[in-house]
Amino acid sequence: MDLRPFLRQLEELGELTRVEEADWDLEIGTITELLDEKEGPALLFDRIKGYPPGYRVVANLMSTPRRLAAALGIHGKLSHMEMVRSLKDKFSALKPTPPVHVRDGPVLENVHDQGAIDLFKFPAPRWHEHDGGRYLGTGDMVIMRDPRGGWVNVATYRMQVHDRDTLGLYIDPGHQGGIIRESYWAEGKSCPVAAVFGAHPLVWMPSFMALPWGVEEYNLAGALLGEPLQLVKGEYTGLPIPACAEIAIEGECPPPQVESREEGPFGEWPGYYGSGVRKEAVVKVKRLMHRDDPIILGSPPLRPPACGVPSYMTRSSNVWYELEKIGIPGIRGVWHMRAGGASFLNVISIEQKYAGHAKQVAMAAMSGVKGAYLGRFVIVVDEDIDPTNDEDVLWALATRCDPATSLEIIRDCWSTPLDPRMSPDQKAKGDFTNSRAILLATRPYHWRKDFPRVNRASDELRAVTLEKWGHLWS
Ligand SMILES: Cc1cc2nc3c(=O)[nH]c(=O)nc-3n(C[C@H](O)[C@H](O)[C@H](O)COP(=O)(O)O)c2cc1C
Repeated sequence: MDLRPFLRQLEELGELTRVEEADWDLEIGTITELLDEKEGPALLFDRIKGYPPGYRVVANLMSTPRRLAAALGIHGKLSHMEMVRSLKDKFSALKPTPPVHVRDGPVLENVHDQGAIDLFKFPAPRWHEHDGGRYLGTGDMVIMRDPRGGWVNVATYRMQVHDRDTLGLYIDPGHQGGIIRESYWAEGKSCPVAAVFGAHPLVWMPSFMALPWGVEEYNLAGALLGEPLQLVKGEYTGLPIPACAEIAIEGECPPPQVESREEGPFGEWPGYYGSGVRKEAVVKVKRLMHRDDPIILGSPPLRPPACGVPSYMTRSSNVWYELEKIGIPGIRGVWHMRAGGASFLNVISIEQKYAGHAKQVAMAAMSGVKGAYLGRFVIVVDEDIDPTNDEDVLWALATRCDPATSLEIIRDCWSTPLDPRMSPDQKAKGDFTNSRAILLATRPYHWRKDFPRVNRASDELRAVTLEKWGHLWS
């Protein structure tokens, strides 16, 4: 549950490169982007300009399927579809593992209380060229307790450094941390908040995995780790904080009418500066904790198909898991295309079992906890199409989808101000909804048997031909 042994593991696998003397202002961000684009190694930045040695930033930690597999202990060279299936099977088999509380932990090696807090002591990067500031929180965990249910939510929400003891906090409308803090604000209270900026990947992963309301991320972290997560109790808020966290803060988020500040602009995951600059709530930091030689876990959003985390893998497997859980038969694969930033373009391959099956799958995929957010296009294909093969999906769309009869538009769905296609007027009104298209690129069920045969050599004929003529390919 400690990030550092995982970094050593990556180094032994040849999956981590150390970088020295980079500037926190744009250099770290641009190196991260360029290497992510070519699926390069994880990056450990040290001796960052203006900072003492040891004050580090790690980026691209899990940005490739290889490193995601290393974190999860999945072995062997798997295709994208096999990896999604294996993740889905892993998630289905997990048993929630409650955390344990301990008195001490590495995160308490250095503790600073009010008056002695300086968030600029960490080399928080300015990640992208047009960002309005430095972001300490990108690969972070924001911790809040629901005042009604008493359960603890942990989620990744970006945090900008405003000054020595103030952080910006951006939560998309509809995300659970936003609903929780509204409950405190409705009573005129500030919302207690803790946040972690650097943790083991399996401790971090549940915080961006969209769990149902009331389900605790720490229980999933324990299940992924195979042992209960160790937590220390925050002295200021009482909130539970991973004992091995690299850096953590506690504080409170006052109602926006008491304090809010301009947040952003920030280069966002759809590939744009979609939400511009707005007034957002802040976190007043009251306690700062960190390990000796702390490591910030950075995960800046990048223009697709680059992405700091393979959420196209986790989201695909989670939607597949959810479709199976509600008992829909015939699901052969789910893929949230990288070009769609893992959210805009969702492809599901099915073996059609009955009339209406394809549309049922599409509607379920866009309504569950895992797939409801933003998903602009849901494309359903037959089982002969590999949803991870973009060209195959486009071929199915071109040849099996009839716009007049295979297309459905659904309006007023859950979206986000980050959506670049949402008009300024709509954003100003606070109407953060979008429309969705279901594209059925399947053979129509009732005449599927009469659908023209595919013009491609069968697998058997290919095998025989390769056996005899294989030398032509060598
Ligand atoms: C690297 C990264 C950064 C993210 N940044 C934000 C963010 O700034 N605000 C936000 O609302 N969601 C952000 N998300 C998405 C949420 O973390 C994700 O949807 C999560 O499941 C929300 O949790 P919740 O359902 O408990 O609110 C980010 C995800 C990742 C992987």
